Amino acid sequence: MKTMASPSLNIFTILLILLSSNAEADEVKGGYWYYDSGLDPSHIDATHFTHLFCAFAKLDSTTNQLTLPSTSFSTFTQTVQQNNPSVKTLLSIGGGGEGSSPFPAMANNSTSRQAFIGSSIQVARSNNFHGLDLDWEYPSSDTDKTNLGLLLNEWRAAIAQEASSSGNTPLLLSAAVAGSNQITDLQYYPAEEITNNMDWVNVMVYDLFVPDGAGSTQPPAPLYNPTGLFSGDQGINGSWINQLGVPPNKLAIGLPFYGYAWTLVDANDHGLFAPGTGAGSIPSGDSVPVYSDIRSFINNDGAQSVYNSTYVTDYCYSGTTWVGYDDTQSVSAKVNYAKELGLIGYFAWQIGGDDDNWTLSKTASDAWES
Ligand SMILES: *[C@@H]1O[C@H](CO)[C@@H](O)[C@H](O)[C@H]1NC(C)=O
Ligand SMILES: *[C@@H]1O[C@H](CO)[C@@H](O)[C@H](O)[C@H]1NC(C)=O
Ligand SMILES: *[C@@H]1O[C@H](CO)[C@@H](O)[C@H](O)[C@H]1NC(C)=O
Ligand SMILES: *[C@@H]1O[C@H](CO)[C@@H](O)[C@H](O)[C@H]1NC(C)=O
Ligand SMILES: *[C@@H]1O[C@H](CO)[C@@H](O)[C@H](O)[C@H]1NC(C)=O
Repeated sequence: MKTMASPSLNIFTILLILLSSNAEADEVKGGYWYYDSGLDPSHIDATHFTHLFCAFAKLDSTTNQLTLPSTSFSTFTQTVQQNNPSVKTLLSIGGGGEGSSPFPAMANNSTSRQAFIGSSIQVARSNNFHGLDLDWEYPSSDTDKTNLGLLLNEWRAAIAQEASSSGNTPLLLSAAVAGSNQITDLQYYPAEEITNNMDWVNVMVYDLFVPDGAGSTQPPAPLYNPTGLFSGDQGINGSWINQLGVPPNKLAIGLPFYGYAWTLVDANDHGLFAPGTGAGSIPSGDSVPVYSDIRSFINNDGAQSVYNSTYVTDYCYSGTTWVGYDDTQSVSAKVNYAKELGLIGYFAWQIGGDDDNWTLSKTASDAWES
């Protein structure tokens, strides 16, 4: 090698760069599309994203095969690539609630793991996805941790093998993971196998404080928390980087495109941590309103909005209704934090919550590029 002439070196280097930029993600401006959100894939402005997650495929607990809930999954990639031919798509598997219930049993047995892995690769390829995204909410025992580690080792090996035998670029492999011990015990994630096998993980640093049983208003997804309680920073830097030891460039920070509504005790006492009586609802009727409905509460119903940079949260209120959420300033601050820490990027849950002008998606993308 040491005597190789420089023109060959240059060509070799260029080839390596081309190959590696095809095979791996070096930045993630991500967003989940949820099939039941009311947003038709043909209306997605994919120019704001490098990666779109199509959610959710279900795991059949009897066969350990994937099933797709809607025919639009099959055309998702070609549809979103119409306005951004380079956007990559990942099929997301599982999700909150019942979506994740078959995972512990599937991961517990090598026969069922192989069935799941084979099905996931076959379904991804035959529907033109560029990758797979595991949304197991949540591994919650030492057995789950061991089994998830085995699953990730075997999954990566199968993906590499499929790529070499088909000659295709390897499928991307990502996961959505909890962002706080407030949500689930993070010690049950197999950090080493995640680092070795996954392209990156999406850290869900939201839903940290919700109205259920809360006697006062709260920032639902604060980046910082001077009270010492949970925050995005604690989840990302404190837990995932410093405690679990996963490198920053394997982590993407979550941006919630929704908020939570509280009911205030007193309409004149409307700050953070003002007395509240639990969940409220905005005129659109929702207690977990998406961003576009929150903007309508502000623009059409006269709610006052406030950005608090200490916590990095927005909130708005009208009468005794109070909503904690993320607006453009919170989104920019979180994306800048991701850049400062050297994270691979960010992701939104979920893009159907953005307003008609793609305000939050554009804000996040612009902050990342700036
Ligand atoms: C995993 O398998 C072991 C024995 O092989 C069994 O005792 C355990 O209940 C299983 N756990 C799950 C979640 O299926
Ligand atoms: C693993 O699961 C398969 C079916 O998925 C079953 O036939 C087999 O008995 C299981 N093995 C163990 C050790 O539980
Ligand atoms: C992340 O944590 C490390 C170790 O505690 C600390 O030195 C660093 O300042 C933190 N970074 C940010 C952006 O808070
Ligand atoms: C954010 O809210 C807290 C709690 O009310 C307050 O102490 C702090 O001063 C606020 N930060 C800013 C920048 O207004
Ligand atoms: C979108 O942008 C247009 C032009 O700036 C503006 O008139 C409209 O109110 C915006 N819509 C929303 C939902 O913000």
